[in-house]
Amino acid sequence: MSAEVDPDLEVTEIVDRTVKAGGPALLFEHPKGARHALLINQFGTEKRMCMAFGVDSLDDISKKLSNVLELQPPQGLLEKVRGLQTLKSIADSRPKTVRKGPVHEVVLQGDEVDLSLLPVMRCWPDDPAPFITLPAVITRDPRDGSRNVGMYRMQVIDRNTTFMHWQIHKDGRADWLATDGRIPVAVALGLDPVSAYSASAPLPKHLDEFMMAGFLRGEPVELVKGITVDLEVPAHAEIVLEGYIEQDELGTEGPFGDHTGYYTAAEPFPVFHVTAMTMRRDAIYPSIVVGKPPQEDAWLGKATERIFLPAVRTTLPEVVDYDLPVAGGFHNCVIVSIRKQFPGHAQKVMHAIWGMGMLSLTKCVVVVDAHVDVHDYEQVLFYAGANVDPKRDVVISEGPLDHLDHAPERQFFGGKLGIDATSKWPEEGARPWPKEIEMTEDVRALVDRRWAEYGLESVLPRRGAESR
Ligand SMILES: Cc1cc2nc3c(=O)[nH]c(=O)nc-3n(C[C@H](O)[C@H](O)[C@H](O)COP(=O)(O)O)c2cc1C
Repeated sequence: MSAEVDPDLEVTEIVDRTVKAGGPALLFEHPKGARHALLINQFGTEKRMCMAFGVDSLDDISKKLSNVLELQPPQGLLEKVRGLQTLKSIADSRPKTVRKGPVHEVVLQGDEVDLSLLPVMRCWPDDPAPFITLPAVITRDPRDGSRNVGMYRMQVIDRNTTFMHWQIHKDGRADWLATDGRIPVAVALGLDPVSAYSASAPLPKHLDEFMMAGFLRGEPVELVKGITVDLEVPAHAEIVLEGYIEQDELGTEGPFGDHTGYYTAAEPFPVFHVTAMTMRRDAIYPSIVVGKPPQEDAWLGKATERIFLPAVRTTLPEVVDYDLPVAGGFHNCVIVSIRKQFPGHAQKVMHAIWGMGMLSLTKCVVVVDAHVDVHDYEQVLFYAGANVDPKRDVVISEGPLDHLDHAPERQFFGGKLGIDATSKWPEEGARPWPKEIEMTEDVRALVDRRWAEYGLESVLPRRGAESR
């Protein structure tokens, strides 16, 4: 787009309308007051998310991962070859250190550093300043040297400092808290979409997000040494901010119009000092708007939902599928279908979810039987209505809640709701459970065969015809 557009609120309004209409990625070539172009809505549809991962459906990504997680000792030559290919794809995922990269075409250090060169957006009217919203923040755990890459918003303070919004449950914050002084930090902006996505993925602490990106891309992420920090940074990033954060330097960050749909309150967060700003010539600055769902981040969340299903199944093999509704802000609700095998099985699954990685922050878990399509919210509501005796089937518990959740009495801690919408067994206190109404398969097949005779084709295609 060649029109001059203001990163102060105006871009948000354009993007909000575009995302909600399923519109295209937008490149603002002339953002007001900045030297660099602004790219936004790169992840804004399922189709673009699939293009980013080079797959036809997001489920294809999770298949790739389940091949690794379900690796068994091979039987026969073919399985051995397949197993070796899978192992090789893991070995080839490790980031590769290279000597030079386009991210060092321009190097600004010391007084040359100036964040106002970038079209950093102020997204919502009550945001006090512009926020960098799509960064991949790189740190190293001072205890074991393992790398962490995470996506945390950064409120701009002045030309060379920002806040770092490391929430309480996050690995980046743990790295910072483990230092006794200053932690080096590098922030990569404008990565290939899979690496950018990986920064938002809830990986266990010891796993390197760039390794995961390499695995998902089928090609290692290339890294170069930072210029003023002892960290490696993506060689092909558009922009990298290098710097440090002190253990004891905090300031008041926020409020910020967040993905909760509300402004999250101002709170103390650490200050990031930028010692170098390196970039490609004509670097493009990437951004994202979060706010009342649905926004562009919905598709980052859906990718995580699909990619992590095989990992959930390693602990809970009874899980058929799960869905984190976008409108539920992801951590507010999980719908999960299970192969029920014993009384209390639904409750076991709820408690397991409340104990599993970032899923532990889930406020409400709805458990349905295996045949229920968890992505069809009408179906889920049907079973949640028909199968639930609220006195018997509702679990109220408590535990950790999302940093940004404004509803609980106390920050970080509060109530959990579990709804067991599975069919009940006698041992669970049910009277004889009625049979669900279903048409027989032979009548369905008969009607399929005769559909054209009924003269209804123009009103309704024959069952299954759309998938022909
Ligand atoms: C667009 C976007 C913005 C995010 N902003 C923040 C943030 O400001 N602070 C935060 O702690 N997490 C934020 N997250 C979530 C983290 O990126 C996510 O939890 C990630 O797994 C954190 O990595 P870590 O566990 O390695 O620290 C954001 C996610 C997305 C997609």
